[in-house]
Amino acid sequence: MKVIITKDYEEMSSKAFEIMKEVVTENPAAVLGLATGSTPLGLYAKMAADHRENGTSYKQVRTVNLDEYEGLDATSDQSYVYFMRENLFRHLDIDLKNTNIENGKAKDPEEECARYNALLEVMRQDVQVLGIGSNGHIAFNEPGTPFEAETHVVALTESTIKDNSRLFARVEDVPRRAYTMGPKNIMNAKKILILANGANKAKAVYGLVKGEITESLPASILQRHPDCTLVCDEAAASLL
Ligand code: PGA
Repeated sequence: MKVIITKDYEEMSSKAFEIMKEVVTENPAAVLGLATGSTPLGLYAKMAADHRENGTSYKQVRTVNLDEYEGLDATSDQSYVYFMRENLFRHLDIDLKNTNIENGKAKDPEEECARYNALLEVMRQDVQVLGIGSNGHIAFNEPGTPFEAETHVVALTESTIKDNSRLFARVEDVPRRAYTMGPKNIMNAKKILILANGANKAKAVYGLVKGEITESLPASILQRHPDCTLVCDEAAASLL
């Protein structure tokens, strides 16, 4: 794993943007695997600014997102489909028809997982952006998720519900279940770009880079990926 340590969040976002820009320049029809959360917001702001200022086009780009809460639809401002539209897609010339995410309101969850897995088979990510949870999760793959898992529905752990409650009015409002790509779908990406900032991620980052490869720390599987770059700030890197 390549590790790039930056002085702060701003520099982390710039480095991440450089890598993203290279992918899109090399292949204007790239498949981008995208993530939600606070971590990639700086990267997305830089993609938007670059599109505005330099005209980098996303017309042919296709995207697949990692995860989505169960029970929320596109009109809910807490849903990840809404997050992506607000924080990235509406600032680019991307065709929303080319953007993909699990349907949180699907009637048949099993069918929805099968649909998403089939889609990922034919849309292998040229790059997959990831954040990391303070418990070492990637996407909503919580500790204990089998490395072989594909898209599935998960019950969120108390630690993730607590971490995510800052984005909701009340902790009771955080959905208890979510759809997520599995570690296997993530590992299938040609390139991984994992980002982390802040001291609360330091333990997870240590496990990601130097820990034992174990399902107890889902991110540790990335040590087996042939092209994985971690970009993190000094606070998140403090235990390395
Ligand atoms: P965050 O979430 O970017 O909001 O810290 C990361 C994650 O839980 O994967």
